[in-house]
Amino acid sequence: MRELTKARWTHVVRRVLRTPLVGLLLSAAAFGALAQSKGDPARGATKVATCSACHGADGGAPLAGLPSLAGQQQEFLELQLILLREGLRDVPSMTGLLKSFSDRDLIDMAAYYSAVKPLSGGSARDAQRVAAGASLSAAMGCGSCHMGNYSGQRQVPRIVNQREDYLVSALKDYRDNRRSGVDTSMNAVMYKTSDADIAALAYYLAQAGK
Ligand code: HEC
Ligand code: HEC
Repeated sequence: MRELTKARWTHVVRRVLRTPLVGLLLSAAAFGALAQSKGDPARGATKVATCSACHGADGGAPLAGLPSLAGQQQEFLELQLILLREGLRDVPSMTGLLKSFSDRDLIDMAAYYSAVKPLSGGSARDAQRVAAGASLSAAMGCGSCHMGNYSGQRQVPRIVNQREDYLVSALKDYRDNRRSGVDTSMNAVMYKTSDADIAALAYYLAQAGK
């Protein structure tokens, strides 16, 4: 899959809307707004004060285990914020906080973070470990959805230069079915992947953009 077509995207949204729980929680209007949203980063910037404590003032994630949001794909952020607010992605520390935000607020916050300059790569770089991660990634086809430079596209997230500890925990969450997104593609990709392979992938991706 080189590029996610509009048809595929519509298919994913329809599948989400068909899920009974989501159908109840998400108004069609919210997804209508998402599908054609541009988002207002300036308005979003006025809404993110409470987020900075954990995600950093510029979305750069200073804390262990937390994702960097800087330069993340806008559509991915919008979808995750809705999933998080509705408790469909279970992060207890965020669910309550997001309840007070409207769909428009979430769309604007997504626009804000996606416009921030992304993190640059880590400093330590063991060439052998990088090569091991790179060949695993090639064998597992990570770049086919996340793009060759891992910057992501639409609802597929940017994973290049993401925090290594967050990458490890996210990949384990998918493997162990503790997390699934708008579709289960990541659960299928990570099925039965060993801890050692997850560590190798995370090490490589955390600095692949260097
Ligand atoms: C109390 C700390 C905390 C605060 C405050 C917080 N978050 Fe989070 N956030 C987290 C944690 C922890 C995760 C992910 C944990 C996981 O899935 O492993 C997360 C995940 C996310 C994600 C998913 C990113 C990804 O790459 O998957 C988004 C988007 C996000 N937060 C946005 C926000 C926004 C916007 C705010 C402010 C309204 C906010 N967060 C406030 C702790 C926080
Ligand atoms: C079939 C397409 C596809 C392939 C192949 C794929 N991914 Fe993903 N990936 C996705 C999608 C879609 C999401 C968002 C899922 C969600 O909503 O939780 C995602 C999410 C992620 C996340 C979560 C990022 C975050 O910020 O929360 C990580 C990490 C990730 N992928 C890494 C990988 C790695 C490593 C590989 C190869 C081993 C890979 N992906 C292969 C489609 C794919």
